[in-house]
Amino acid sequence: MSREYIHLGLNIDHIATLRNARNEGDPSLLELAFEAQDGGADSFTMHLREDRRHIKDKDIFEIKEHAKLPINLEMAISEEMTKIALQLNPRSVCIVPERRLELTTEGGLDVNAHFAALRPLVQELQAAEIEVFPFVEPDLTAIDLCHTLGCNGVELHTGAFARGWKNIYERHRQVQRLQLAAEHCAKLKLELHIGHGLNYVNIGDVLNLPGLTEVNIGHAIIARALKTGLRLAVAEMKALLEKKV
Ligand code: PXP
Repeated sequence: MSREYIHLGLNIDHIATLRNARNEGDPSLLELAFEAQDGGADSFTMHLREDRRHIKDKDIFEIKEHAKLPINLEMAISEEMTKIALQLNPRSVCIVPERRLELTTEGGLDVNAHFAALRPLVQELQAAEIEVFPFVEPDLTAIDLCHTLGCNGVELHTGAFARGWKNIYERHRQVQRLQLAAEHCAKLKLELHIGHGLNYVNIGDVLNLPGLTEVNIGHAIIARALKTGLRLAVAEMKALLEKKV
């Protein structure tokens, strides 16, 4: 699919993490989804983890019902998640590896090891008109396997690029890796998404990857919202205190 501009998928898992700290609905995921929508986000990415540590089942269905933007559901390979994805019917599913003790999705999916399970999963999701994007390292073999599976595209894991960004040699090496992977996707006509660790500083180095249609970003944008919003939030409370003598 070619697009006139690179779409921004906003990962809203961190908002749910903050909400869950009190479990009283503040901040409201839906209210902030509307804010993000007004800010120009193109889609919402949510990872419904097996342990439900941030996004809950209710969240994905509420966002689907009330927000206007398409949903990109991140999920592990499991029967439970497949059932939920088919019920939700998001625009796309990003198939991710999942380990209980990890802080976040630490690496790409081992497509080779999961090939047998992926084949029926990809077919079942696509039969329901859900696009499928495995989350893979910028590795040509993994990309070939996604092509064999008939996936719509891949989301390339940019974690190694983001981690290595401060070292100019490593940055160059990782951009080259992503470039080769992107060219390979273009050759195979696989749509290209990227995500993980992207921020306001490093994004410029990956924007020109050939065929890039979507970036999925969470942490940097939610952290930035705190930085840009905290001054006003404090000032608003101070203004209320000034009314009391
Ligand atoms: N894409 C995928 C598949 C992810 O698992 C994540 C992290 O949950 C992201 C994008 C967003 O990463 P970050 O929060 O570092 O921007």
